[in-house]
Amino acid sequence: MDRFIIEGNRDLAGTISVSGAKNAILPAMAACLLAPGKSVLRNVPNLIDLKTMAHLLRFLGAHVDFNSGELSIAAATITSNEAPYELVSKMRASIYVLGPLLARQGEALVSFPGGCAIGTRPVDLHLKAMEALGARISVEHGYIHAIAEKLIGADIHFEKSSVGATINALMAAVLASGTTRIINAAREPEVDTTIELLNKMGARISGLGTTSLTIEGVEKLVPAAMDMIPDRIEAGTFLVAGALSTQPVTVENYVPGHLDSLLEKLRAAGCELDIRDTGITVNPPQKIKPVDVLTLPYPGFPTDLQAQFTVLMTLADGVSFIEDTIFPDRFMYVAELNRLQADIRMERNVARVRGVASLSGAEVMASDLRASAALVLAGIVAQGQTTISRIYHIDRGYDHIEEKLNRLGARIKRETA
Ligand code: UD1
Repeated sequence: MDRFIIEGNRDLAGTISVSGAKNAILPAMAACLLAPGKSVLRNVPNLIDLKTMAHLLRFLGAHVDFNSGELSIAAATITSNEAPYELVSKMRASIYVLGPLLARQGEALVSFPGGCAIGTRPVDLHLKAMEALGARISVEHGYIHAIAEKLIGADIHFEKSSVGATINALMAAVLASGTTRIINAAREPEVDTTIELLNKMGARISGLGTTSLTIEGVEKLVPAAMDMIPDRIEAGTFLVAGALSTQPVTVENYVPGHLDSLLEKLRAAGCELDIRDTGITVNPPQKIKPVDVLTLPYPGFPTDLQAQFTVLMTLADGVSFIEDTIFPDRFMYVAELNRLQADIRMERNVARVRGVASLSGAEVMASDLRASAALVLAGIVAQGQTTISRIYHIDRGYDHIEEKLNRLGARIKRETA
């Protein structure tokens, strides 16, 4: 298993570029199942999660090719309606094939995703949405079995904002007969990208960017080609890396507006930001000010940047409180940061972070994707050497993060065991 060996106490400076957004590409790949023919997604990075989704689409009968950042998916015929346990257990986002399979094939058999390192993650909202559209759902032997000869447009009222359930509902409703309204839809940028792609494929969805979406069902969709948006979470990770430095760091290939909640917190921490259309330069503060964070659905502070921001707060001049309202158990990394001599105490589901003068390198273990990114940031600024094991988590969502950060002056070595 690969691990990172990081020589700490490094000062980063320069320009870093952001890759395409994993969380936009995963549903886009699933959406391609809806149209017979070849669709093309551009600006696609080389990530394990995307390979897992490609594997699943091939299992279902699609032809998937990846070449120089371009992913082509030809789904002339679907030969299986089943997303097996081996693939779903590797990646929860495999649940994204539920809506497309049901809409196109009238049946889907999808392994029930289990829990994961960031806590219990139910799929009840996905299932309720399918049921609202007329599907009959049963759960047997660890599999969700959904059947509907024809989906029928309906009102879907989500009691909680869910990115995944909103997207699955959209992908099912586009081929339903009649009108569907999604109330309390998630409005993360990744939802917008899915809507744009589906509309390019011939769907009729209105309400983009709002919590109320209307879908007029159509008979069929056609293949489309589209550029994928830059990854706001990768961009945010690099901005926090800049805030931890003493030199300016510029993050390029960023969409203005996608990260306003983080930018506000970085300013409150004392950073000066120079924002342009395609890039942001973060000028780090002399002293990091403590800032409290509460994660919320978009446009609130993203849960996927919670761990990275906590690293910044470990070096702040005072105490800050970090609370995750989306995934309250997403603090597995805290014990690892404390091994680096951070001073974080959990008070129920809130991290109380008392800033320290410096972190001290040690051996740590990554527990999940964003936690690994946080440990990498901590290792870069810690005194001495930090070794991070189980870094396969980071390869799920960051394309060669060590190479990108090394170009800014980090010293991260990948060791293959
Ligand atoms: C997506 C992202 C993930 C991010 C999360 C929140 C992908 C592949 N993953 O995950 O990186 O952290 O959004 O921004 O895009 N919930 C239910 N029932 C459901 C579904 C969700 O109760 O059926 C709850 C979840 O437990 C959580 C909240 O709703 O508390 C939001 O989760 P959701 O937006 O669905 O997250 P994902 O789509 O799984």
